[in-house]
Amino acid sequence: MESALPEDVLGRLLGNLRTKSKSTSDQIHKRAVRDYIDPERYSAECRSLFRDLPIVAAHSSQLAKPGDFIRHDRLGVPLILCRTESGEVAAFRNICSHRGATVAVEARGNRNNFICPYHHWTFALDGRLLHVPDESSFDAEEFHRLGLRRVAVAEKHGLVFVRLSDGPPIDLDTFLGEVAPELETMHLEQHQFFADRDTQLKCNWKIMMEGSLEVYHFKFLHAKSAGGQFLPMTAIFDNYFPHQRHVMPRKDFPERVEQGKDPRRALLPNYFIFPNTVLTFPHDHMTLTQIFPTAIGESVFYNALLTLDKPGENKDVAYWQRALDYTETVNQEDFEVIEAIQRSCAHMQDENVIHGRFELGISRFHDACDKLLAGYQGRFGVRER
Ligand code: FES
Ligand SMILES: [Fe+2]
Repeated sequence: MESALPEDVLGRLLGNLRTKSKSTSDQIHKRAVRDYIDPERYSAECRSLFRDLPIVAAHSSQLAKPGDFIRHDRLGVPLILCRTESGEVAAFRNICSHRGATVAVEARGNRNNFICPYHHWTFALDGRLLHVPDESSFDAEEFHRLGLRRVAVAEKHGLVFVRLSDGPPIDLDTFLGEVAPELETMHLEQHQFFADRDTQLKCNWKIMMEGSLEVYHFKFLHAKSAGGQFLPMTAIFDNYFPHQRHVMPRKDFPERVEQGKDPRRALLPNYFIFPNTVLTFPHDHMTLTQIFPTAIGESVFYNALLTLDKPGENKDVAYWQRALDYTETVNQEDFEVIEAIQRSCAHMQDENVIHGRFELGISRFHDACDKLLAGYQGRFGVRER
């Protein structure tokens, strides 16, 4: 998919190239190491960021037809996401309202209904309780209240978001703000889920998140993999508080400009959807990566690859498998460093880490976390100009 980025992105990249300058923030930021290891802060993050905000939980193609469902356990509460007969997505806890058994045991599938394996209470695709064996042993008047507990869900731009906390319906236009029209141009809904993988990491979620919000390390840490493909220190970063976008030019960017070819083909756009999701758009597929906190110093890294045409149609399955393996190779290089940083935190409790002028994506991310933890009530997705 060719990127349809705003015009100024191209102009700024070309300007940076011409003047051999780079896009940076005015300031150097310092962040207290205690923010990665303080249990109170961690609880506040889980509550204010991972319970109270909408979080991407699936790509629409994972729930293509009525009855398609997936389990989602990365937010701490076991969930089922399911396409109902009316075509909408429902999300509910994967916890039986009888005595708490896990209702859907498989990771994904297609069903007419959900039958709890323990005593066969049966639930509809939208979680309603349909059938109770030996009904007379229970109070039938209560049955309408005993569906699987619903969780707020919304679908747009090919993505399904859930929110754990109670409250008004999720309003994705308000949440995404000016990111929404840009995502629209990326045609996420035309992609097809290919495969995904979870990796358990021994690190605070923010340390892993930081690695996705700067490209300073690319040339060095990823020297043997992806690093050589991009122009070093040339990416540009835009803030759509609390979301972000950064665009990385490939090495052939200047050449394409000189030859009058469309230079957009040589750009890699990355969208960061606060607090934990990065969407990356190489030309024939996209990756959806996420980080979920599971404990103060532990996280799950989620990596999914989505293709623009059905695997096997134009490119064989092995081609997409290689693309997925490649992302895993690059991620593995990050994991080792990131887990080492987590171990170092124990020895740096009263110290700071430094985020330089070119690591502005990280300082913006921390600013956004700080503001939301402090109860920010203002607008989301406003592009900083
Ligand atoms: S626990 Fe599910 S039917 Fe009893
Ligand atoms: Fe990296």
